[in-house]
Amino acid sequence: MAEHNESAAYPVGLRLAGRRVVVLGGGQVAQRRLPALIAAGADVLLISPSATPSVEAMADAGEVRWERRRYADGDLDGAWYALISTDDPDANRAASAEAEARRVWAVRSDDAEAATAWTPATGRSEGVTVAVLTGRDPRRSAAVRDAIVEGLRDGSLTAPHFRTHPAAANATGPAVGHVALVGGGPGDPDLITVRGRRLLAGADVVIADRLGPRDLLDELPPHVEVIDAAKIPYGRAMAQEAINNALIEHAQAGKAVVRLKGGDPYVFGRGMEEAQALAEHGIPCTVVPGISSTISVPGAAGIPVTHRGVAHEFTVVSGHVAPDDERSLVDWEAVARLRGTLVLLMSVENIGAIAETLVRHGRAAGTPVAVVQEGTTAAQRRVDATLATVGERVKAEGIRPPAVIVVGDVVTVGTGTGTGTGTGR
Ligand SMILES: C[S@@+](CC[C@H](N)C(=O)[O-])C[C@H]1O[C@@H](n2cnc3c(N)ncnc32)[C@H](O)[C@@H]1O
Repeated sequence: MAEHNESAAYPVGLRLAGRRVVVLGGGQVAQRRLPALIAAGADVLLISPSATPSVEAMADAGEVRWERRRYADGDLDGAWYALISTDDPDANRAASAEAEARRVWAVRSDDAEAATAWTPATGRSEGVTVAVLTGRDPRRSAAVRDAIVEGLRDGSLTAPHFRTHPAAANATGPAVGHVALVGGGPGDPDLITVRGRRLLAGADVVIADRLGPRDLLDELPPHVEVIDAAKIPYGRAMAQEAINNALIEHAQAGKAVVRLKGGDPYVFGRGMEEAQALAEHGIPCTVVPGISSTISVPGAAGIPVTHRGVAHEFTVVSGHVAPDDERSLVDWEAVARLRGTLVLLMSVENIGAIAETLVRHGRAAGTPVAVVQEGTTAAQRRVDATLATVGERVKAEGIRPPAVIVVGDVVTVGTGTGTGTGTGR
């Protein structure tokens, strides 16, 4: 037999959907390999007297069929592929021999030389599967895999798409670009999703809000056109329409457009209005969720929005119009009756009136309040108060938007723990 070395392995992508894969042994190796086999749609038969709790859960969920017994000759009948990983070397050897006799490709966890197949270190990034084999150095395989996947994710390894977006592929008429509405997270550039970052790296045009990870814009290559959404010239009332028009125009010019928004696009972000405007013009649009400031900004300041025995709910409310404003859609009386955490966005200007309304409708005046300005950024600042004092404190401390205001007993649970995610910089 030829010497086993890395150049002797022939890489191939197995299409296992609906095909029998036999897994012998329900330990750590199975636990690591099963998810990918399940994801590939394989008809997995697990043979093992015992299994780890995770493997057992996969069997309970019906993702694999589990026969609780030891390996017996004939178990590989009908298999296309086998994973041999029992803790009994004799059983492994016997199964290997059966696999060889039946021409079933088999991986051996205990003896790579005796195997007819090796499992590469694999990773995935948006439709690309990376599989790395380095012969006898699995750590190196994993490191190479990580470097490639990370590079694809953060855009440092550029791999342009040569096929159009599936939604655009069916469109008739001139080539149309694509818009991604990307939730950029609360501000710290590390808190954007990997998908958002990758799309940003591949953008021709970026239309960015004032909030969100502005620092990432500096990293964009010079050919990328960066447009400040706040500066698109139109009257204030027209601002959203102007942004929609800019998105449409650039996409119609065939550009890859990223609309970079603060937090999550659908949390007080008008993301759906933009998605609807794009849909009306037949422009393909992807929405990438983001880490909303509603949870992350309190968290960065050491405040959990729920805590066992303290708060079983948190409610997010926009305070951009005052409680007595007829345009307000908030039932403040009902909100005041809630016992859990209240997270107020866009409320700096109206916090005095909001606090007064909450107290008037029954929330205790001594309820702790924290105001977190520019959370997760280098300028993050927290001011503590109570419902009785927050209006004055916000004025006295010169708090300015953006700020998240947290009302409830969770505000004090982390006191003294020194928690908070920090700014990351
Ligand atoms: C128009 S809303 C957008 C919310 C965003 N879509 C989200 O999911 O976080 C803007 C409000 O979010 C809050 N906000 C966003 N980022 C913030 C940050 N880094 N620090 C404090 N508050 C923030 C403030 O209340 C701000 O007025």
